[in-house]
Amino acid sequence: MDILGISAFYHDSAACIVRDGEIIAAAQEERFTRKKADARFPVNAIRYCLDEARLSLGKLDHIVFYDKPILKFDRLLETYLAFAPQGLRSFLTAMPVWMKEKLLLKRMLLKELSAVNPGNAPLKLPELLFGEHHESHAASAFYPSPYQEAAVLCMDGVGEWATTTAWIGKDNELKPLWEIPFPHSIGLLYSAFTYYTGFKINSGEYKVMGLAPYGKPVYVKAIYDELLDLKPDGTFRLNMDYFDYCTGLTMTNARFDKLFGGPPREPETMLTQREMDLARSVQEVTEEAMLRLSRTIHRETGLDYLCMAGGVALNCVGNGRILREGPFKGIWIQPAAGDAGGALGAALTVWYKMAGNPRKADGRRDAMKGSYLGPDYRDDEVQQFLDRQGAHAVRLPDDALYNEVAEYLAQGKIVGWLHGRMEFGPRALGSRSIIGDARNKTMQSIMNLKIKYRESFRPFAPSVLAERVSDYFEMDAESPYMLLVAPVRNSRRLPVPASAEGLWGIDLLNVPRSDIPAVTHIDYSARVQTVHKETNPGYYRLIKAFEAKTGCGVIVNTSFNVRGEPIVCSPEDAYRCFMRTEIDVLVLGNFVLQKEEQKPLTQDSEWRNEFVLD
Ligand SMILES: [Fe+2]
Repeated sequence: MDILGISAFYHDSAACIVRDGEIIAAAQEERFTRKKADARFPVNAIRYCLDEARLSLGKLDHIVFYDKPILKFDRLLETYLAFAPQGLRSFLTAMPVWMKEKLLLKRMLLKELSAVNPGNAPLKLPELLFGEHHESHAASAFYPSPYQEAAVLCMDGVGEWATTTAWIGKDNELKPLWEIPFPHSIGLLYSAFTYYTGFKINSGEYKVMGLAPYGKPVYVKAIYDELLDLKPDGTFRLNMDYFDYCTGLTMTNARFDKLFGGPPREPETMLTQREMDLARSVQEVTEEAMLRLSRTIHRETGLDYLCMAGGVALNCVGNGRILREGPFKGIWIQPAAGDAGGALGAALTVWYKMAGNPRKADGRRDAMKGSYLGPDYRDDEVQQFLDRQGAHAVRLPDDALYNEVAEYLAQGKIVGWLHGRMEFGPRALGSRSIIGDARNKTMQSIMNLKIKYRESFRPFAPSVLAERVSDYFEMDAESPYMLLVAPVRNSRRLPVPASAEGLWGIDLLNVPRSDIPAVTHIDYSARVQTVHKETNPGYYRLIKAFEAKTGCGVIVNTSFNVRGEPIVCSPEDAYRCFMRTEIDVLVLGNFVLQKEEQKPLTQDSEWRNEFVLD
């Protein structure tokens, strides 16, 4: 049975194919269109998934969309009515789009789908199915997890009505426990602060999280007193007097400005201590809500394991605290925790819930295949691209490749690494990564300034050999999807030198904090990715080769893109990024390219304007 899952029209559209319960392919539309968080119908992602599964649309057994547009419409209408007449302006702005694109979704989906069909033959499509937003999240968290039975917690901005939901997953069943409805939403609270601190909502949240360690939690009391009524069980209500997202076109309002001492920061202007303190405060409140909710759901279910999804589950600092301080023996988080993963959850719901197929989990391995579910490029395809481009490259067999690249890393070179199937979800996990030496004291600022062209208040993430994770971090769990933050081991930390006294804000990041300074944040935390032989043998062997040379089992891993750009997908995207930045060496499959051997790109001066900051 072949099932196509689709998510679209909110942010980060995606498609996937599930065949007899196995995830065959999954990808986000942004990677193909090169438009970050592209919310349009995912024609390219669908086409890729069909190709990968060697299917045509007409051969599919089911097509499922990840949420129910009519329920979303219902929520919008009721919200606007409840807040009328203040809501009229945004009602008039939003509604025509909804009427045109979303409410008529079925007709539109069928029309869009017929455009996917390569032969344009008359199409006989299976009946179009619709999941429910949070059920799709919950399904994406539980069904691929390694657990036969688990509690499930989903937290996001908002789907149809729910913003937080709790479930019990057992065998092939997902039973709803309870939910917190819109407008009360931890995701939207976090997004409000993302907007207020001058970042883009729905994508700049990770920056707020990265900024938090610079701040002091001075606004926590104000948040609890005025904005958020957080109950001991973790459930909550927001005071809507401070938010404008029900009625206006912005997240926060004048009252919010007054409470926090001024208007929102203009994007791209200087960060001040105030934004850092705001970030720290909302982060602390969010962690507290996550921890309390996890304790409640543990108490209610008595289960040992927790699965999570929804945009808030990308808060890896909060996840790390649930793992360390929470009551569960283990937690598993869907790597595509945002709405892209909803496509996968919807498809798995059809397989398990609708078709009633049994489910077996072994307690160890999840079903995500390391999230390496996107396009791969064969040698002959790379060769064709190189020939077209007139690029100079050398092809190496596996062992020589890992050895040579490890040598470059040890020399302090920065390597663009495209190897194997592209990752599904927002993190690069060693298939589309820029990599470097984590021991290098200047690696962090070099990568930020010369490659990412962005503010450098956030350190990069470490990729560590799975079996050595405890040598470097206070952590004894797998974190293959870079969704858990853990402290760097005490024994590796360095005392802060007297010369660092008086430093402020981002300058603090340039003071080495450990013997792997490029991946150590100013609070000694790190966003850990454990690398496993089974799921990414190439990347694992590369780090092994680096370890053999240096004794160090950790490298720096950052996504292969410049600021504001989607992660690269094809050799062409990677080559362009390589040529536009100061990456020293590019690896495309088994081909190695040196920067100094390439001809400069012509007519490419305006590229930095192509991508906006998030
Ligand atoms: Fe969602």
